[in-house]
Amino acid sequence: MIDIHCHILPGVDDGSRDLEESAAMARIAYEDGIRDIIVTPHFNEVYLTMADRVHRELEQLQKELDRQGIGIRLHPGNEVRVESKDFFDGHHRSGAFSRLGWGGTHVLVEQRWKGYDPDTPEIVERLLDAGITPILAHPERHYFFRENSEDLLRLIELGMWTQVSADSIVGNFGPEAQSFGRKLIQAGHAHTIATDAHNVERKPNLSAGLVVFEEIAGKQARLELEARMRSIVDRS
Ligand SMILES: [Fe+2]
Repeated sequence: MIDIHCHILPGVDDGSRDLEESAAMARIAYEDGIRDIIVTPHFNEVYLTMADRVHRELEQLQKELDRQGIGIRLHPGNEVRVESKDFFDGHHRSGAFSRLGWGGTHVLVEQRWKGYDPDTPEIVERLLDAGITPILAHPERHYFFRENSEDLLRLIELGMWTQVSADSIVGNFGPEAQSFGRKLIQAGHAHTIATDAHNVERKPNLSAGLVVFEEIAGKQARLELEARMRSIVDRS
């Protein structure tokens, strides 16, 4: 299995604090059946984790996982917030953040918590025109998508993928996120499932999420989901 959203890089954001915690998270992930992790530190106004730092820290952590014999392969990434259109476009143009995987064919995009950015469709269209697939981080956790799903449906119609969090659909983020996450799966609008793990408590628990996904959507849909996630790192 592959986890496409994980704050496992040590000391860069509100995820893992140090190398020891990162290795502990990797062990949990390995025991869960995960073999590939795309590291996705925050790239926003609070934690501006630049691509060069992501690459540097990734290399260090990979060395440590190899040294400890933990069979996980790391891939670069970021979770990029749409603080504004200018924020996103400017940093994209300058290559400040890392897209997903070494091939960089996808980018993980997050909305602000306080409200939907109406410029998002324009950002999405521009990425798709450039051959890059944007993936929306955990829409089921945002109240504005739950209250008005039209904005979300418009993004999906344009060609944006969604990333639904395993913790949401198993119920760890409350009943609203759980029910909306399950609705997205039912409707065929959950293109990827990931952990968004931050530490050993908010941990990489992908298998539990995939079990729920399969219960709702069926075996064939799960195979397609896993192939879709695999394609993000296979082009690396
Ligand atoms: Fe995240």
